[in-house]
Amino acid sequence: MSKNVGHIAGLLKDFVNLACRKDVFFATVRENCNTNGFCGLHSISKSFVTSSRHQAGIPPGLLMKAETLAASKRPGQEVPFRLKDLFRWKSSIAPSLGNSIESTSNSAGQILTSALGSVAFTRELSTGAKQQLAWWLGGTAAWVYSMVVLGGVTRLTRSGLSMTEWKFTGERPPLTAEDWRLQFDLYMASPEFKRLHSKMTMEEFKFIFWMEYAHRMWGRVLGLAFLLPGSYFLARGFINPSLGKRLGLLFLMGGTQGLVGWWMVRSGLQEPDKQWETPRVSPYRLAAHLVSAFTIYSGLVWTTLDIVYPKPLLAAADATTQLAAKSVRSKLLPLAALVAVTASSGAFVAGLDAGRAYNTFPLMSGRWVPEEYWDTSLTTFRNFFENTAAVQFHHRVLATLTATSVAVLWHVVRSSAVPHRVKLCMDVVLGVTAVQFTLGIWTLLSYVPVHLGSAHQANALNLFTAMLVTLHALRPAEMGPISLALARYGTPAAALAVLGVGLAVTTNY
Ligand code: HEM
Repeated sequence: MSKNVGHIAGLLKDFVNLACRKDVFFATVRENCNTNGFCGLHSISKSFVTSSRHQAGIPPGLLMKAETLAASKRPGQEVPFRLKDLFRWKSSIAPSLGNSIESTSNSAGQILTSALGSVAFTRELSTGAKQQLAWWLGGTAAWVYSMVVLGGVTRLTRSGLSMTEWKFTGERPPLTAEDWRLQFDLYMASPEFKRLHSKMTMEEFKFIFWMEYAHRMWGRVLGLAFLLPGSYFLARGFINPSLGKRLGLLFLMGGTQGLVGWWMVRSGLQEPDKQWETPRVSPYRLAAHLVSAFTIYSGLVWTTLDIVYPKPLLAAADATTQLAAKSVRSKLLPLAALVAVTASSGAFVAGLDAGRAYNTFPLMSGRWVPEEYWDTSLTTFRNFFENTAAVQFHHRVLATLTATSVAVLWHVVRSSAVPHRVKLCMDVVLGVTAVQFTLGIWTLLSYVPVHLGSAHQANALNLFTAMLVTLHALRPAEMGPISLALARYGTPAAALAVLGVGLAVTTNY
């Protein structure tokens, strides 16, 4: 026992040390010059000083630092760098000099690229260590995928409101007849039982209870499957500070997801305002829970891709390919945003049970735009998100726009000079979108049976995966100002936002 406590304390200490340590990178000063006339770090420091004198806004402290470095270091010496210095260098030096640095082999240029890109996650790791990290993170992404599907089945079988209490750490399942009676009594007091399930038997209750219980516990075990191997990898030195920050953020998001889940369930346990209304969770909260799950999944997939493909595919590409990729990327990014908006609108269709109305396609009650599109008893905002006709109409329009845009971009990519892998990825995006569109119509025409509703939801995640893999393959060889800002401030900003959400939902229970 005391050995275990000592071990856990050791792991915690390692974690704190790692979190507090500054990112320090080492560059070895090179002797021989490259074709551009820069001799590794030594020359980079010097040239940086000369060229940057003409630029505005360079911090004098950094100039002095560069001058001192250039003067004091000799070829072969190791020079320590902070990650933030590298960021500053990269953003403040002249682009031409930046390019020279990138092309300097085995010099600070490489370290600069590494520090700025995802290479930073795995720079010092062996192939075996990278593989272990990739399997672990890919596995947790697959686990989140299964959580989303299980959550969808829980909703579609109307099981989500069967447990009327919640503890962050989890609750033991009912084991005795008396335990079951107690749980059933609690459920009998809920509006859903009174209005919809008043004739439910104990056996039927046990089914919906186990569905919700499995969803909750599957999420908690996922937390452990993230934390325990993560601590092991940390102790083995596989997780450097930049990867540690990303993983910490994902863990925080996972914990907050549990809070958001209970915040959503709570809304379904309240008595509805009107006598005839069906008790159901707030569509806004359901959408928040779903969007947050999709975001965590995307973060895990992206980080896994960063580990599997640390170097951008385009790093070795010629100028024509780079240009073609830039053009495709500029179209794919808004398309990815459109897919995200369409999926979020789908969450409102699910939240309102809007798929059980207007079960024809393409017309809705014989019209392109349903007569009930504008409910004058609601404000414009509420009409957009709470009126069944409007919500379903928007999802159809967005889905059609998404599918059309995917087809157009696929056509553009086919004749473009992008790498073959990107073309393959776009083929998959097109195929998955076609399946998603068909599944959506099929689900609607057959009044949302559990298997189709669930397949439509799962395939939305497939579409996200295909989009993420394509975007990852199109990562620019050099980071632009937006990517730089994201790399620098993205994680702390997102962590603050997640903490804000966590605080907001817990004070709003
Ligand atoms: C690119 C196209 C599409 C995407 C990305 C998409 C995405 C989604 C998502 C994420 C959901 C929420 C699933 C859930 O929480 O269970 C959803 C629900 C839904 N979608 Fe789509 N969808 C698309 C196309 C369509 C089409 C064309 C239709 C039919 C006209 C459709 C009908 C529905 C229905 C009826 C639901 C509610 C299902 C339920 O209650 O479980 N979708 N969609």
